[in-house]
Amino acid sequence: MSQGLDDVIAAETRLSSVDGARGVLVVKGFSLDQIAGHKRFEDVAWLLLGGLIDALPDAATFAARLGAARREIFTLVPYIDDALLALPPMDGVRAIIARIADGEDLVTVTRLLAAPAVLLPAFLRRRQGLAPIAPDPSASHAADMLHMLTGETPPADVAGALDTYLVTVADHGLNASTFAARVVASTWSGLTSSVLAGLAALKGPLHGGAPGPIIAMLDGIATPENAEPWIEAALARGDRLMGFGHRIYKVRDPRADALKAAVRRMAAGSSVLPGRLKLAEAVERAALRILHDHKPDRPLDVNVEFYTALLLEALGFPADAFTAVFATGRTAGWLAHAREQRLTGRLIRPQSAYVGPAPAEAA
Ligand code: CMC
Repeated sequence: MSQGLDDVIAAETRLSSVDGARGVLVVKGFSLDQIAGHKRFEDVAWLLLGGLIDALPDAATFAARLGAARREIFTLVPYIDDALLALPPMDGVRAIIARIADGEDLVTVTRLLAAPAVLLPAFLRRRQGLAPIAPDPSASHAADMLHMLTGETPPADVAGALDTYLVTVADHGLNASTFAARVVASTWSGLTSSVLAGLAALKGPLHGGAPGPIIAMLDGIATPENAEPWIEAALARGDRLMGFGHRIYKVRDPRADALKAAVRRMAAGSSVLPGRLKLAEAVERAALRILHDHKPDRPLDVNVEFYTALLLEALGFPADAFTAVFATGRTAGWLAHAREQRLTGRLIRPQSAYVGPAPAEAA
């Protein structure tokens, strides 16, 4: 029995492979560096869904259908009321996504893919007392999301940075949220239910909730010289360092490098980012050294979340919205995995080992 199902193979997939020993991520036959920064998010979503959805059109038509779905989802924005605005963005957005009818078809798929990209910017603007901005179905998914956030058409390199991020996190083997989505799909519930399960699992700080606290860590450390004492003190308190360690990767998470490269490209045109990057690099160096002494038997390296925090901050997302941006990309993986599981027709139903008391003997 394994508490965390370590090393248990619970599905066969044609979607992605995570080689934790070599630090290699393959998505549908492409290595991460062949797609991150090269393909748009909508094209990677289309790639993942290939063979899994009835009547899936060609990539260009799929992108147009996704654009139309963004406009359709915008009609749900008025349901973001004051009670939802008081919640963290991930919870507020999840509550609106729950209004989307369950189904297994292309319409459901495009609505669910469109939903976080439209609802998160609308949520964040409404929270600031600003009017939501309607989507532009002809824009790329990433450029449209940024336009809905800021009201400005993003320069190509900025939209490209968000595209790189969304593609980098689109799918990643049988991670906790993807497994949750597959478990729900295996009961034949429908894709909205699977995505809601994925959102619920992603939210925790051991999975997709880490990047927000990373900003708090960088702000707390403040200067490169303060990295070592701050980290030593955090570990002495028994805290975990967010953005480090991974269940599968025993070496550096390849997604960290894809995102660091995107941050570097953005830093060239920014007055703030080079300083932030310098601080992050100092924190990374200190953390790796100290973690090595802290857990000599457990290789702990940087994971995807560390540079996610820098990238999403530079794109203008507030720290409490980072997990919902992660969900915008990962929805593609959840949908593809849910369909893959559904097509097996097989219910996921493991067993537990009962360790409680036996019933008392009858007198
Ligand atoms: N800081 C300090 N100690 C750590 C860390 C860390 N980041 N990660 C693991 N450890 C320790 C852990 O406390 C444990 O010590 P002990 O044996 O004394 O209890 C030991 O290393 C082994 O850890 P583990 O719990 O067996 O490792 P795991 O495979 O269950 O954990 C993890 C993976 C990601 C949950 C963990 O590394 C962690 O909590 N990291 C910080 C949170 C984080 O960055 N999460 C984002 C993960 S990447 C996004 C994704 O793909 O989901």
